[in-house]
Amino acid sequence: MNCSSLRFAGRVGMWRSHWSTLRPLSKVISTDLVNRRAIKAAYSSLSRQSSKGKSVIITGSSRGIGKAIALRLAADGYDVCINDLSVNQAACDKVAEEIRGMGRKACVALADVTNRDQVKEMIGTSVRELGPLHTMIANAGIVQVQHVLELSDEDFQRMFAINVFGVQNCLSEAAKQLISQGNCRPDRPGKLLAASSIVGFRAFPLLPHYSASKWAVRGLIQAYAMELAKHNITANSYAPGIIDTMMWDIIDAGVSKRTGLDPNEVTEKMAHEMMAIDRVGVPEDVAKLVSFLASSDSDFVTGQTQLVDGGIVFT
Ligand SMILES: NC(=O)c1ccc[n+]([C@@H]2O[C@H](COP(=O)([O-])OP(=O)(O)OC[C@H]3O[C@@H](n4cnc5c(N)ncnc54)[C@H](O)[C@@H]3O)[C@@H](O)[C@H]2O)c1
Repeated sequence: MNCSSLRFAGRVGMWRSHWSTLRPLSKVISTDLVNRRAIKAAYSSLSRQSSKGKSVIITGSSRGIGKAIALRLAADGYDVCINDLSVNQAACDKVAEEIRGMGRKACVALADVTNRDQVKEMIGTSVRELGPLHTMIANAGIVQVQHVLELSDEDFQRMFAINVFGVQNCLSEAAKQLISQGNCRPDRPGKLLAASSIVGFRAFPLLPHYSASKWAVRGLIQAYAMELAKHNITANSYAPGIIDTMMWDIIDAGVSKRTGLDPNEVTEKMAHEMMAIDRVGVPEDVAKLVSFLASSDSDFVTGQTQLVDGGIVFT
């Protein structure tokens, strides 16, 4: 073989090796394109994807807003893990039974959200009973009526232990679970939700540490949204206004003690004076917003705190 035929053979070899790397690469590119087109078609669709078979954990769901969310998401197709403190076991069992009666799977995982080990166990129970996790709703919370200058360290710590650390425990353990499952996709993101409040936008007098805790939830949600988008996980919170639950019994009693108002009038009076829509909210008003946030309709919404308050705070 002379020099020029050696050069020719070398060139053919060079091209062969180019093609041998290019061919699989072109295959990869076209598969990628097909996948991207399928994903785009899924998120460009105007229909809400079914939530059937997806699973959700809702903390503090034995009553009030959490219970209404549990029933609404079960109606949407979700299988539901009910959580609350062990003192509320009977109420949890009743909600789970009601959900089974709707043809969905349900389980109860008692846990104090301030305790990270218990939160991990709660997630473990849900995954064992209902399958891979799709949505976490950190709803559990407490309120306390107190003048800002009369707050003790213990008052402040308890409020933050439940309303902030409790939310952080649930969101962070759920995020780790979602990432390890590896099933969150751009067209089927995992969802993290938490309860904020109107007082997370404008504090109420006599609710200083409660208001601060709900501001903290908004901040945390924004951080989760930014850090977890790369894992195809969205994070949002809902901010209810004046919603008729047992929480308002505590506010009525506390405000009445400090202002002399009739406790039966506190909620109605505040609602009448503050709201554009002249009625007190019901837990189902909040559940309808959460249904959207937990559905495929909100897949492009992240880092937001959505108000549901009949028109008190305007954003
Ligand atoms: N009701 C309202 O007007 C209103 C307004 C704004 C925000 N929110 C928020 O919505 C969420 C639900 O409120 P709600 O009105 O249904 O209150 P609720 O008091 O009726 O229910 C709260 C539930 O959380 C549970 N819980 C409390 N501490 C817990 C803990 N450490 N671990 C597990 N569960 C615990 C309680 O046992 C209870 O079942 C709360 O985060 C609350 O701050 C409520």
